[in-house]
Parts: sequence; C-alpha cells; structure tokens
Amino acid sequence: MDPANPPGLQYTQAMARSIKIAPSLLAADFARLDREIARVEKYVEWLHLDVMDGHFVPNISFGIPVIESVRAVTDLYLDCHIMTTNPGAYLPELAKAGVDGVTVHIEAVPDPSETADRARRSGLDFGLVVNPGTPFDAIAPFVENCDVVVIMSVEPGFGGQDFKGEVLPKVEKAREWVENRGLAADIQIDGGIGPENAGAAGSAGANVLVAGSAVFGAEDPVLAVKEIRRAAERNE
Ligand code: DX5
Ligand code: ZN
Repeated sequence: MDPANPPGLQYTQAMARSIKIAPSLLAADFARLDREIARVEKYVEWLHLDVMDGHFVPNISFGIPVIESVRAVTDLYLDCHIMTTNPGAYLPELAKAGVDGVTVHIEAVPDPSETADRARRSGLDFGLVVNPGTPFDAIAPFVENCDVVVIMSVEPGFGGQDFKGEVLPKVEKAREWVENRGLAADIQIDGGIGPENAGAAGSAGANVLVAGSAVFGAEDPVLAVKEIRRAAERNE
C-alpha cells in the first residue's frame, strides 16, 4: 500500500466529490419550457442545453433566442453543449444570452486553445467533449485549461439513446488525470444516463450527470433526479 495514498483516503475523496445533476432540456416539452424547468429547478444544480446545427450532428435543436427565454425564467447554471461545426463563432452571443459555461467537441476543433481563450474572454466557463469513439488522449493536453471534461456515452445528436457502458474506462482515465494533477475540472457524462447506470458512472469518477429522457420523460421528474443522485452518490 502506498502510505501517501491509502485506499481509504481515495474512497473519502470519491464520497466527498459533489454530484451535480444536469437535466437536458432536449427531452423537455419545448412548448412549456418554463413549467418544465420549474418542476425540477429546486432539485438540480445545472441545466444542460444541447445546441445542434444539423451539420456537425444530423439534427437541429435550438439556439440563442430560446436560450434567452430560458435565462429569463431560471437562475440555474446554464451548461451549453455546442454541437456545431464552428463552436467558436457564437461564444459572445451565447454569453450575452445568459449561458454560464460552454463545452465544445474536440472533433469539431482539434486545437481548441483559441476557442478556450475566446470563451474566457466572453466570461464563460469552458470544457471539452469527446465522442464515444474518440480517445481521452485527444483532449489530454488541454484538460488543464478546462472547467469540465465531458465524456459522451452516446453518439451526439439525439436524446433517448442507449447508454454505452464501454466509455466508462474513459471516465476513469479522465478522473485519474485530473486528480493526479490536482486539477479542479468536473467530469461530466452525457447520454443515456438514468438511475440504472448513474452508480456506475459515479464510481468511474463522473460528478456531473446529464440526463434528458430519464428526467423529462419520467412521470415524476423530481423522483427521477433523486434516484439518479442517490445512485451516483452511493456508486450503486
Ligand atoms: C445528445 C445530447 C444529450 C442528450 C441526452 O446529443 O448531448 O445531452 O440530450 O439525452 P438522454 O439523457 O435522453 O440520452
Ligand atoms: Zn448534451
């Protein structure tokens, strides 16, 4: 046993990690966003906003005007997952619309340093996202400049897909990377998350859990949030 790093201590650190639940509005009723948000608002830390351009991913979701309307009805942290070909292009506008943090795909911006700088200059938190097929190594050199690292557990573009458990080793790698370097980045997992796999995601090291259909598709979204949180906290 390494006396400087006993297993008991690691366990305590994992337990102390604060879990954030980030419902994805993509699965909400777009005609009633204010009500959908109000239902879960008191029980979650972040709201996840999936912006898609029909080019980087084969789907179109929503953009700036909708985000402005969302900002007007909630004080929650707005986490904007940008799935567009040129994610740097609208950062000032997204900031103005009220977004708190943006995440961009390494597949869209292979050298994201300039995009990260642009985000910071606009007052935004910044993070990088990797698709299921992209190795962690693709973002490793940039992680020290990230507030959040996002591991996709489905192919981006659509809600309601099945969780890909094969990405969990990548979550472990990301967690190990930030802990070993004393970085404060959150590790987010996005896609197919629900009470049945939140425990595995949490024990692999994810502390921000995005859930769309499992929350807004549930009869009782608050119960779903509580179940996801309990599973992630207890690693079960
Ligand atoms: C997929 C999006 C996800 C999606 C998650 O491109 O990035 O955020 O909304 O939805 P569920 O939880 O239904 O997989
Ligand atoms: Zn997303």
